[in-house]
Amino acid sequence: MKRTSVQDIHSKYEAGEPLTMLTAYDAPIAELVDEGGVDMILVGDSAGDNHLGYDDTLPLTMEEALSNAAAVDRAVDDAMVVADLPFLSYGASMEQSVENAGRFMKEAGADAVKLETAPHGETTIEIIDRLTELGIPVMGHVGFTPQRMHQIGGPYIQGRGQTGSAHVDALVETAEKLVDAGVFAVVLETVTEETGTRVTEAVDVPTIGIGAGRNVDGQVLVVTDMLGMGEAFKLSKQYADVGETIRDAVSEYVSEVEHGEFPARENVYEPEDEDS
Ligand code: KIV
Repeated sequence: MKRTSVQDIHSKYEAGEPLTMLTAYDAPIAELVDEGGVDMILVGDSAGDNHLGYDDTLPLTMEEALSNAAAVDRAVDDAMVVADLPFLSYGASMEQSVENAGRFMKEAGADAVKLETAPHGETTIEIIDRLTELGIPVMGHVGFTPQRMHQIGGPYIQGRGQTGSAHVDALVETAEKLVDAGVFAVVLETVTEETGTRVTEAVDVPTIGIGAGRNVDGQVLVVTDMLGMGEAFKLSKQYADVGETIRDAVSEYVSEVEHGEFPARENVYEPEDEDS
């Protein structure tokens, strides 16, 4: 079956159906997330801290991000695969930006790319304009943009118009410019609910919120957060405690090996035994 396309996303949006997206960074999780029925899988640069053990998203390299995206691509049948462009893999020049975005489509098999945009971020908006002209579907990302964490000063809620928090008007205007540049959807991260509502009313593409309140067109969560494998955040919800399941399984295994209970008779190969 063909994977979810930009047109499918648009049709769901037009029909007023909420859109769903989760992150995934490797094949086994991507396969399960896909089977769970999400519309889109984001191979986020949050792989930096949630998959590769860095402190944040900034150190993630192009090669690491491409490898994650290709693994997800190999595992996913139905959902649209959206690849996040890592910090500074775009913006140095138009040539560098187009080449790197293209690599996610050509080498990793992604269906679309996502770029973070600062409030009134003209350079990124120009890049997105060029990418969409060339046929690369782009998802925008405004609000809190973790790649600018050092500049913002911390993970501040955006749309409050205080130090480290852009004014809601700036976020609305940026989202509008992104739509003019051709994005098919906009992620809104860690913004006031008023900002989520105002951007959603202002643009005619789906808004996908993470900590953007209830009045957006879809939701995205980081898979390790919602599965209980990471920190708990107010903007997220833990739908399972996979962390505890893994810890329990590992300690049971350790105990069984230490007590000579594993391997048991059924795990042993006999000379004539053909079972694998
Ligand atoms: O990288 C990521 O996980 C993201 C989501 C938070 C939207 O960009």
